[in-house]
Amino acid sequence: MSVVALIGAQWGDEGKGHLVDLLASKARLVIRYGGGNNAGHTVVNHLGTFKLHLIPSGIFDPATVNVIGSGVVVSPEALLTEIQGLEDRGVNTSKLFVSERAHVVMPYHVMLDKLQEEARGEGKIGTTGRGIGPAYADKMSRSGIRMADLLHEETLLNRLRGVLEEKNRLLTKLYGVKPLSLHDTYLRYLDFGHKLADHIADTHPIILRALEKDLPILLEGAQGSLLDVDHGTYPYVTSSPPGAAGACQGAGIGPTRIDSVIGVYKAYTTRVGEGPFPTEIDGPDADALRQIGTPWAEVGTTTGRLRRVGWFDAVMARYAAQVNGIDTLAITKLDVLDGVQTIKICTAYKLHETTLEFPPATTAVLEQVEPVYEEMPGWMTPTTAVRRFQDLPDNAQAYVARICQLVGARLGIISVGPDRDQTIMAAEVF
Ligand code: GDP
Ligand code: IMO
Ligand code: MG
Repeated sequence: MSVVALIGAQWGDEGKGHLVDLLASKARLVIRYGGGNNAGHTVVNHLGTFKLHLIPSGIFDPATVNVIGSGVVVSPEALLTEIQGLEDRGVNTSKLFVSERAHVVMPYHVMLDKLQEEARGEGKIGTTGRGIGPAYADKMSRSGIRMADLLHEETLLNRLRGVLEEKNRLLTKLYGVKPLSLHDTYLRYLDFGHKLADHIADTHPIILRALEKDLPILLEGAQGSLLDVDHGTYPYVTSSPPGAAGACQGAGIGPTRIDSVIGVYKAYTTRVGEGPFPTEIDGPDADALRQIGTPWAEVGTTTGRLRRVGWFDAVMARYAAQVNGIDTLAITKLDVLDGVQTIKICTAYKLHETTLEFPPATTAVLEQVEPVYEEMPGWMTPTTAVRRFQDLPDNAQAYVARICQLVGARLGIISVGPDRDQTIMAAEVF
Protein backbone atom coordinates (compact mmCIF):
# COMPACT_ATOMS: atom_id res chain seq x y z
CA MET A 1 0.00 0.00 0.00
CA SER A 2 1.45 3.34 -0.83
CA VAL A 3 -0.99 6.06 0.20
CA VAL A 4 -2.42 5.81 3.71
CA ALA A 5 -4.61 8.41 5.38
CA LEU A 6 -4.45 8.38 9.16
CA ILE A 7 -7.40 10.30 10.54
CA GLY A 8 -8.84 11.12 13.95
CA ALA A 9 -12.14 9.28 14.31
CA GLN A 10 -13.52 10.85 17.50
CA TRP A 11 -13.33 14.44 18.78
CA GLY A 12 -9.57 14.86 18.27
CA ASP A 13 -6.54 14.05 20.45
CA GLU A 14 -6.77 10.34 19.66
CA GLY A 15 -2.98 9.99 19.52
CA LYS A 16 -2.45 10.71 15.83
CA GLY A 17 0.94 12.37 16.40
CA HIS A 18 2.20 9.31 18.27
CA LEU A 19 1.30 6.98 15.39
CA VAL A 20 2.49 9.25 12.59
CA ASP A 21 5.89 9.49 14.31
CA LEU A 22 5.95 5.70 14.46
CA LEU A 23 4.93 5.17 10.82
CA ALA A 24 7.12 7.98 9.43
CA SER A 25 10.10 5.66 9.17
CA LYS A 26 8.12 3.61 6.63
CA ALA A 27 6.68 6.60 4.74
CA ARG A 28 8.84 8.73 2.46
CA LEU A 29 6.41 11.64 2.51
CA VAL A 30 4.15 12.84 5.34
CA ILE A 31 1.50 15.45 4.53
CA ARG A 32 -0.56 17.44 7.06
CA TYR A 33 -3.66 18.21 5.04
CA GLY A 34 -5.98 20.29 7.20
CA GLY A 35 -6.65 22.36 10.27
CA GLY A 36 -4.10 24.76 11.68
CA ASN A 37 -2.43 25.38 15.00
CA ASN A 38 -5.66 24.44 16.73
CA ALA A 39 -4.11 20.96 16.53
CA GLY A 40 -1.67 19.70 19.12
CA HIS A 41 0.10 16.46 18.30
CA THR A 42 2.31 14.94 20.99
CA VAL A 43 5.29 12.87 19.99
CA VAL A 44 7.43 10.98 22.49
CA ASN A 45 10.54 9.38 21.00
CA HIS A 46 14.30 8.95 21.54
CA LEU A 47 14.76 12.73 21.12
CA GLY A 48 12.29 13.70 23.85
CA THR A 49 8.70 14.91 24.10
CA PHE A 50 7.41 17.29 21.44
CA LYS A 51 4.14 19.15 20.97
CA LEU A 52 3.56 19.89 17.30
CA HIS A 53 0.83 22.19 16.05
CA LEU A 54 1.51 22.70 12.34
CA ILE A 55 4.58 20.67 11.45
CA PRO A 56 3.83 17.06 10.46
CA SER A 57 4.78 14.46 13.05
CA GLY A 58 7.04 12.77 10.48
CA ILE A 59 9.66 15.50 11.02
CA PHE A 60 11.82 13.33 13.28
CA ASP A 61 12.69 10.86 10.53
CA PRO A 62 15.66 12.34 8.65
CA ALA A 63 14.78 10.58 5.39
CA THR A 64 11.16 11.69 5.26
CA VAL A 65 9.91 14.77 3.42
CA ASN A 66 7.22 16.64 5.33
CA VAL A 67 4.61 18.81 3.65
CA ILE A 68 2.07 21.23 5.06
CA GLY A 69 -0.60 20.93 2.39
CA SER A 70 -2.89 23.45 0.70
CA GLY A 71 -5.78 22.57 2.98
CA VAL A 72 -3.99 23.77 6.12
CA VAL A 73 -4.43 27.31 7.45
CA VAL A 74 -1.03 28.51 8.58
CA SER A 75 -0.09 31.02 11.23
CA PRO A 76 3.39 32.05 10.00
CA GLU A 77 4.32 33.22 13.47
CA ALA A 78 3.36 29.88 15.04
CA LEU A 79 5.16 28.00 12.27
CA LEU A 80 8.38 29.99 12.74
CA THR A 81 8.26 29.39 16.49
CA GLU A 82 7.76 25.69 15.91
CA ILE A 83 10.60 25.44 13.39
CA GLN A 84 12.93 27.30 15.76
CA GLY A 85 11.88 25.10 18.69
CA LEU A 86 12.72 21.96 16.72
CA GLU A 87 16.01 23.29 15.36
CA ASP A 88 17.04 24.31 18.90
CA ARG A 89 16.57 20.69 19.93
CA GLY A 90 18.59 19.36 17.02
CA VAL A 91 15.73 18.37 14.71
CA ASN A 92 16.48 19.16 11.07
CA THR A 93 13.64 20.99 9.31
CA SER A 94 15.26 21.46 5.90
CA LYS A 95 12.90 18.89 4.34
CA LEU A 96 9.78 20.75 5.49
CA PHE A 97 7.71 22.38 2.75
CA VAL A 98 4.58 24.51 3.04
CA SER A 99 2.23 24.71 0.11
CA GLU A 100 2.15 28.16 -1.44
CA ARG A 101 -1.60 27.61 -1.81
CA ALA A 102 -2.17 27.21 1.94
CA HIS A 103 -4.06 30.11 3.49
CA VAL A 104 -2.54 32.37 6.10
CA VAL A 105 -4.07 32.91 9.54
CA MET A 106 -3.96 36.69 9.97
CA PRO A 107 -4.10 38.67 13.24
CA TYR A 108 -7.69 39.74 12.55
CA HIS A 109 -8.69 36.07 12.34
CA VAL A 110 -7.41 35.46 15.85
CA MET A 111 -9.10 38.63 17.13
CA LEU A 112 -12.40 37.76 15.47
CA ASP A 113 -12.32 34.17 16.72
CA LYS A 114 -12.07 35.43 20.30
CA LEU A 115 -14.60 38.26 19.84
CA GLN A 116 -17.13 35.94 18.19
CA GLU A 117 -16.75 33.44 21.02
CA GLU A 118 -17.35 36.18 23.57
CA ALA A 119 -20.42 37.32 21.67
CA ARG A 120 -21.79 33.75 21.65
CA GLY A 121 -21.91 33.84 25.45
CA GLU A 122 -23.56 30.67 26.79
CA GLY A 123 -23.68 29.27 23.26
CA LYS A 124 -19.90 29.41 22.81
CA ILE A 125 -18.23 26.64 20.84
CA GLY A 126 -15.11 26.49 22.99
CA THR A 127 -12.73 27.11 20.09
CA THR A 128 -8.99 27.05 20.59
CA GLY A 129 -8.92 30.80 19.88
CA ARG A 130 -6.35 30.36 17.12
CA GLY A 131 -8.37 32.12 14.40
CA ILE A 132 -9.14 28.91 12.53
CA GLY A 133 -12.86 29.49 11.85
CA PRO A 134 -12.44 33.05 10.54
CA ALA A 135 -9.45 31.99 8.40
CA TYR A 136 -11.44 29.20 6.70
CA ALA A 137 -14.43 31.53 6.32
CA ASP A 138 -12.25 34.05 4.46
CA LYS A 139 -10.80 31.29 2.28
CA MET A 140 -14.30 30.26 1.21
CA SER A 141 -15.47 33.82 0.69
CA ARG A 142 -12.37 34.39 -1.45
CA SER A 143 -10.83 37.07 0.69
CA GLY A 144 -8.00 34.96 2.06
CA ILE A 145 -4.29 35.61 1.84
CA ARG A 146 -2.13 32.66 0.82
CA MET A 147 1.43 31.69 1.68
CA ALA A 148 2.56 32.60 -1.87
CA ASP A 149 1.26 36.14 -1.31
CA LEU A 150 3.77 36.62 1.51
CA LEU A 151 6.52 36.37 -1.11
CA HIS A 152 5.08 39.02 -3.46
CA GLU A 153 5.21 42.52 -2.04
CA GLU A 154 2.68 44.02 -4.42
CA THR A 155 0.16 41.20 -4.17
CA LEU A 156 0.39 41.19 -0.39
CA LEU A 157 -0.15 44.93 -0.14
CA ASN A 158 -3.07 44.91 -2.55
CA ARG A 159 -4.80 41.92 -0.98
CA LEU A 160 -4.26 43.26 2.50
CA ARG A 161 -5.48 46.75 1.63
CA GLY A 162 -8.79 45.39 0.36
CA VAL A 163 -9.34 42.90 3.17
CA LEU A 164 -8.19 45.05 6.06
CA GLU A 165 -10.60 47.84 5.23
CA GLU A 166 -13.52 45.47 5.76
CA LYS A 167 -11.99 43.79 8.82
CA ASN A 168 -11.26 47.12 10.47
CA ARG A 169 -14.85 48.22 9.97
CA LEU A 170 -15.96 45.01 11.66
CA LEU A 171 -13.46 45.36 14.50
CA THR A 172 -14.25 48.98 15.27
CA LYS A 173 -17.97 49.32 14.42
CA LEU A 174 -19.30 45.95 15.55
CA TYR A 175 -16.89 44.96 18.29
CA GLY A 176 -15.60 48.37 19.39
CA VAL A 177 -11.93 47.41 19.38
CA LYS A 178 -8.92 49.12 17.82
CA PRO A 179 -8.28 48.72 14.08
CA LEU A 180 -5.15 47.09 12.69
CA SER A 181 -2.57 49.19 10.87
CA LEU A 182 -2.14 48.34 7.18
CA HIS A 183 1.47 49.47 7.24
CA ASP A 184 2.49 47.44 10.30
CA THR A 185 0.59 44.34 9.29
CA TYR A 186 2.02 44.45 5.79
CA LEU A 187 5.62 44.78 7.01
CA ARG A 188 5.17 42.09 9.63
CA TYR A 189 3.76 39.53 7.18
CA LEU A 190 6.30 40.41 4.52
CA ASP A 191 8.97 39.68 7.09
CA PHE A 192 7.35 36.32 7.90
CA GLY A 193 7.45 35.59 4.16
CA HIS A 194 11.19 36.35 4.02
CA LYS A 195 11.87 34.13 7.00
CA LEU A 196 9.82 31.24 5.61
CA ALA A 197 10.92 31.63 1.98
CA ASP A 198 13.02 28.43 1.99
CA HIS A 199 10.02 26.40 3.11
CA ILE A 200 7.24 27.89 0.95
CA ALA A 201 6.98 25.87 -2.25
CA ASP A 202 4.73 24.51 -4.93
CA THR A 203 4.18 21.19 -3.21
CA HIS A 204 2.26 19.67 -6.12
CA PRO A 205 5.36 18.37 -7.98
CA ILE A 206 6.77 16.95 -4.72
CA ILE A 207 3.59 14.98 -4.13
CA LEU A 208 3.19 14.00 -7.78
CA ARG A 209 6.73 12.61 -8.00
CA ALA A 210 6.17 10.53 -4.88
CA LEU A 211 2.94 9.17 -6.35
CA GLU A 212 4.60 8.38 -9.67
CA LYS A 213 7.40 6.51 -7.93
CA ASP A 214 4.88 4.69 -5.75
CA LEU A 215 6.64 5.90 -2.61
CA PRO A 216 4.80 5.35 0.66
CA ILE A 217 2.85 8.50 1.55
CA LEU A 218 1.21 9.12 4.92
CA LEU A 219 -1.56 11.71 5.19
CA GLU A 220 -1.68 13.07 8.73
CA GLY A 221 -5.07 14.11 10.00
CA ALA A 222 -5.72 16.82 12.54
CA GLN A 223 -8.85 17.14 14.70
CA GLY A 224 -11.32 14.25 14.32
CA SER A 225 -14.30 13.14 12.30
CA LEU A 226 -16.83 14.18 14.97
CA LEU A 227 -15.47 17.74 14.63
CA ASP A 228 -16.03 17.65 10.86
CA VAL A 229 -17.90 20.69 9.60
CA ASP A 230 -20.25 18.44 7.57
CA HIS A 231 -20.41 15.21 9.53
CA GLY A 232 -19.61 16.32 13.07
CA THR A 233 -21.72 17.61 15.94
CA TYR A 234 -22.49 20.93 14.23
CA PRO A 235 -22.19 23.74 15.28
CA TYR A 236 -19.76 22.37 17.90
CA VAL A 237 -17.19 21.49 15.27
CA THR A 238 -14.10 22.91 13.67
CA SER A 239 -14.22 24.69 10.30
CA SER A 240 -12.58 22.11 8.07
CA PRO A 241 -13.15 18.51 6.93
CA PRO A 242 -10.67 16.49 9.04
CA GLY A 243 -11.57 13.13 7.49
CA ALA A 244 -10.60 11.10 4.44
CA ALA A 245 -12.29 13.42 1.93
CA GLY A 246 -10.46 16.35 3.49
CA ALA A 247 -7.22 14.40 3.13
CA CYS A 248 -7.70 14.20 -0.63
CA GLN A 249 -8.74 17.81 -0.95
CA GLY A 250 -6.18 19.27 1.43
CA ALA A 251 -3.23 17.30 0.07
CA GLY A 252 -4.25 17.44 -3.59
CA ILE A 253 -4.39 13.67 -4.03
CA GLY A 254 -7.37 12.08 -5.78
CA PRO A 255 -9.56 9.59 -3.89
CA THR A 256 -8.65 6.78 -6.29
CA ARG A 257 -5.05 7.00 -5.05
CA ILE A 258 -5.82 6.37 -1.38
CA ASP A 259 -5.15 2.73 -0.52
CA SER A 260 -6.16 2.66 3.12
CA VAL A 261 -7.85 4.85 5.71
CA ILE A 262 -6.72 4.27 9.29
CA GLY A 263 -9.19 5.57 11.85
CA VAL A 264 -7.51 6.44 15.14
CA TYR A 265 -9.70 5.85 18.19
CA LYS A 266 -8.92 6.13 21.85
CA ALA A 267 -10.05 3.05 23.77
CA TYR A 268 -12.53 5.42 25.46
CA THR A 269 -13.71 8.90 24.42
CA THR A 270 -12.61 12.47 25.15
CA ARG A 271 -13.67 15.89 24.01
CA VAL A 272 -12.33 19.42 24.61
CA GLY A 273 -14.60 22.39 24.11
CA GLU A 274 -18.38 22.50 24.21
CA GLY A 275 -20.95 20.31 22.51
CA PRO A 276 -22.92 17.10 23.01
CA PHE A 277 -21.11 14.04 24.36
CA PRO A 278 -23.59 11.20 25.04
CA THR A 279 -21.19 8.87 26.90
CA GLU A 280 -19.59 11.58 29.05
CA ILE A 281 -18.99 10.57 32.67
CA ASP A 282 -17.96 12.18 35.91
CA GLY A 283 -16.78 10.79 39.25
CA PRO A 284 -14.15 8.14 40.07
CA ASP A 285 -14.32 6.37 36.68
CA ALA A 286 -13.77 9.73 34.96
CA ASP A 287 -10.74 10.42 37.15
CA ALA A 288 -9.30 7.05 36.15
CA LEU A 289 -9.79 7.88 32.46
CA ARG A 290 -8.30 11.35 32.92
CA GLN A 291 -5.13 9.82 34.38
CA ILE A 292 -4.54 12.90 36.48
CA GLY A 293 -0.99 13.12 37.77
CA THR A 294 0.55 11.26 34.81
CA PRO A 295 2.40 12.97 31.95
CA TRP A 296 -0.39 11.82 29.63
CA ALA A 297 -3.23 13.21 31.75
CA GLU A 298 -6.19 14.25 29.63
CA VAL A 299 -5.25 17.90 29.29
CA GLY A 300 -5.52 19.63 25.90
CA THR A 301 -2.16 19.82 24.08
CA THR A 302 -2.90 23.23 22.55
CA THR A 303 -4.94 25.02 25.21
CA GLY A 304 -4.14 23.17 28.46
CA ARG A 305 -7.88 22.68 29.09
CA LEU A 306 -8.99 19.59 30.99
CA ARG A 307 -10.52 17.13 28.52
CA ARG A 308 -14.02 15.80 29.12
CA VAL A 309 -14.01 12.00 29.27
CA GLY A 310 -16.44 9.15 28.70
CA TRP A 311 -16.87 5.54 27.61
CA PHE A 312 -16.24 4.29 24.08
CA ASP A 313 -19.17 5.36 21.92
CA ALA A 314 -19.60 2.78 19.17
CA VAL A 315 -22.52 4.68 17.61
CA MET A 316 -20.29 7.68 16.91
CA ALA A 317 -17.30 5.47 16.13
CA ARG A 318 -19.18 3.43 13.50
CA TYR A 319 -20.61 6.57 11.95
CA ALA A 320 -17.08 8.02 11.65
CA ALA A 321 -15.93 4.78 9.99
CA GLN A 322 -18.84 4.91 7.57
CA VAL A 323 -18.43 8.51 6.40
CA ASN A 324 -14.67 8.12 5.98
CA GLY A 325 -14.38 4.61 4.58
CA ILE A 326 -12.17 3.56 7.50
CA ASP A 327 -10.83 0.07 6.77
CA THR A 328 -8.25 -0.18 9.57
CA LEU A 329 -8.46 0.69 13.24
CA ALA A 330 -5.76 2.10 15.45
CA ILE A 331 -6.83 1.84 19.07
CA THR A 332 -4.77 4.07 21.37
CA LYS A 333 -4.37 4.47 25.11
CA LEU A 334 -5.52 0.95 25.89
CA ASP A 335 -3.24 1.13 28.96
CA VAL A 336 -5.43 3.84 30.45
CA LEU A 337 -8.08 1.16 31.05
CA ASP A 338 -5.60 -1.13 32.86
CA GLY A 339 -7.06 -0.26 36.27
CA VAL A 340 -10.74 -0.07 35.39
CA GLN A 341 -12.74 -2.95 36.87
CA THR A 342 -15.75 -2.85 34.56
CA ILE A 343 -15.60 -1.15 31.18
CA LYS A 344 -18.67 0.12 29.38
CA ILE A 345 -19.22 0.39 25.64
CA CYS A 346 -22.15 2.31 24.20
CA THR A 347 -23.66 0.17 21.44
CA ALA A 348 -26.79 2.19 20.61
CA TYR A 349 -28.76 5.25 21.67
CA LYS A 350 -32.27 5.27 23.10
CA LEU A 351 -34.44 8.26 22.35
CA HIS A 352 -37.61 7.84 24.43
CA GLU A 353 -38.85 4.43 23.23
CA THR A 354 -36.86 4.34 20.00
CA THR A 355 -33.45 2.74 19.50
CA LEU A 356 -31.18 4.79 17.27
CA GLU A 357 -28.48 3.23 15.12
CA PHE A 358 -27.03 6.54 13.92
CA PRO A 359 -26.32 9.81 15.75
CA PRO A 360 -29.10 12.38 15.29
CA ALA A 361 -28.05 15.62 13.56
CA THR A 362 -29.50 18.12 15.98
CA THR A 363 -27.70 19.06 19.19
CA ALA A 364 -30.94 19.33 21.16
CA VAL A 365 -31.88 15.76 20.19
CA LEU A 366 -28.38 14.37 20.70
CA GLU A 367 -28.41 15.83 24.19
CA GLN A 368 -31.53 13.80 25.00
CA VAL A 369 -30.33 10.37 23.90
CA GLU A 370 -29.58 7.72 26.52
CA PRO A 371 -26.57 5.53 25.75
CA VAL A 372 -27.28 1.80 25.76
CA TYR A 373 -24.29 0.19 27.46
CA GLU A 374 -22.74 -3.20 27.27
CA GLU A 375 -20.37 -4.06 30.11
CA MET A 376 -17.09 -5.91 29.74
CA PRO A 377 -14.78 -7.06 32.52
CA GLY A 378 -11.51 -5.11 32.82
CA TRP A 379 -8.14 -6.87 32.91
CA MET A 380 -6.61 -5.15 35.96
CA THR A 381 -3.06 -5.84 34.71
CA PRO A 382 -0.52 -3.40 33.23
CA THR A 383 -0.32 -3.59 29.42
CA THR A 384 2.35 -0.92 28.89
CA ALA A 385 5.11 -3.47 28.23
CA VAL A 386 3.08 -5.68 25.87
CA ARG A 387 4.23 -5.65 22.22
CA ARG A 388 2.26 -8.52 20.67
CA PHE A 389 -1.51 -8.86 20.48
CA GLN A 390 -1.46 -12.43 21.77
CA ASP A 391 0.40 -11.25 24.90
CA LEU A 392 -2.41 -8.92 25.95
CA PRO A 393 -4.62 -10.18 28.79
CA ASP A 394 -7.62 -12.13 27.44
CA ASN A 395 -10.09 -9.47 28.57
CA ALA A 396 -8.10 -6.77 26.76
CA GLN A 397 -8.07 -8.86 23.58
CA ALA A 398 -11.81 -9.35 23.90
CA TYR A 399 -12.38 -5.62 24.42
CA VAL A 400 -10.34 -4.68 21.34
CA ALA A 401 -12.06 -7.36 19.26
CA ARG A 402 -15.49 -6.10 20.34
CA ILE A 403 -14.60 -2.52 19.31
CA CYS A 404 -13.46 -3.74 15.87
CA GLN A 405 -16.66 -5.74 15.48
CA LEU A 406 -18.89 -2.81 16.47
CA VAL A 407 -17.03 -0.34 14.25
CA GLY A 408 -16.75 -2.75 11.33
CA ALA A 409 -13.06 -2.55 10.40
CA ARG A 410 -9.93 -4.68 10.82
CA LEU A 411 -7.45 -4.10 13.63
CA GLY A 412 -4.20 -2.40 12.57
CA ILE A 413 -2.41 -0.90 15.57
CA ILE A 414 -2.85 -0.76 19.34
CA SER A 415 -0.93 1.64 21.53
CA VAL A 416 -0.25 1.02 25.19
CA GLY A 417 1.75 4.09 26.16
CA PRO A 418 2.90 7.41 24.69
CA ASP A 419 6.39 6.25 23.66
CA ARG A 420 7.10 5.48 20.03
CA ASP A 421 7.76 1.83 20.82
CA GLN A 422 4.71 1.33 23.04
CA THR A 423 2.73 -0.05 20.15
CA ILE A 424 1.43 -3.37 18.94
CA MET A 425 1.34 -3.85 15.17
CA ALA A 426 -1.54 -6.19 14.41
CA ALA A 427 -1.49 -5.73 10.63
CA GLU A 428 0.79 -4.38 7.90
CA VAL A 429 0.07 -0.70 7.33
CA PHE A 430 2.36 0.03 4.38
P1 GDP B 1 -3.35 13.92 18.72
O1 GDP B 1 -3.85 15.31 18.70
O2 GDP B 1 -4.30 12.95 18.11
O3 GDP B 1 -1.96 13.78 18.15
O4 GDP B 1 -3.23 13.51 20.27
P2 GDP B 1 -2.63 14.43 21.46
O5 GDP B 1 -1.15 14.40 21.37
O6 GDP B 1 -3.29 15.74 21.53
O7 GDP B 1 -3.14 13.63 22.73
C1 GDP B 1 -2.80 12.31 22.95
C2 GDP B 1 -2.08 12.21 24.32
O8 GDP B 1 -1.98 10.86 24.70
C3 GDP B 1 -0.65 12.71 24.29
O9 GDP B 1 -0.33 13.20 25.56
C4 GDP B 1 0.14 11.45 23.96
O10 GDP B 1 1.50 11.50 24.42
C5 GDP B 1 -0.63 10.43 24.75
N1 GDP B 1 -0.62 9.08 24.18
C6 GDP B 1 -0.63 8.68 22.88
N2 GDP B 1 -0.76 7.35 22.79
C7 GDP B 1 -0.84 6.89 24.06
C8 GDP B 1 -1.02 5.60 24.64
O11 GDP B 1 -1.15 4.59 23.96
N3 GDP B 1 -1.09 5.53 26.00
C9 GDP B 1 -0.99 6.64 26.80
N4 GDP B 1 -1.07 6.47 28.11
N5 GDP B 1 -0.82 7.85 26.28
C10 GDP B 1 -0.76 7.99 24.94
P1 IMO C 1 -5.91 17.58 17.30
O1 IMO C 1 -5.34 17.61 15.93
C1 IMO C 1 -9.24 18.34 20.01
C2 IMO C 1 -11.98 21.58 18.93
C3 IMO C 1 -11.98 22.75 19.89
C4 IMO C 1 -13.43 23.19 19.77
C5 IMO C 1 -13.71 22.98 18.28
C6 IMO C 1 -13.55 24.23 17.43
O2 IMO C 1 -4.92 17.86 18.38
O3 IMO C 1 -6.70 16.33 17.53
P2 IMO C 1 -11.43 25.54 16.52
O4 IMO C 1 -10.32 26.24 17.26
O5 IMO C 1 -10.97 24.46 15.60
O6 IMO C 1 -12.37 26.49 15.84
O7 IMO C 1 -12.30 24.85 17.69
O8 IMO C 1 -12.78 22.00 17.84
N1 IMO C 1 -10.65 21.20 18.39
C7 IMO C 1 -9.94 20.17 18.83
N2 IMO C 1 -10.18 19.30 19.83
N3 IMO C 1 -8.15 18.19 19.22
C8 IMO C 1 -7.92 19.03 18.20
O9 IMO C 1 -6.90 18.85 17.33
C9 IMO C 1 -8.81 20.10 17.98
N4 IMO C 1 -8.88 21.11 17.09
C10 IMO C 1 -10.00 21.76 17.34
O10 IMO C 1 -11.67 22.35 21.20
O11 IMO C 1 -14.25 22.32 20.47
MG1 MG D 1 -4.20 16.89 20.01
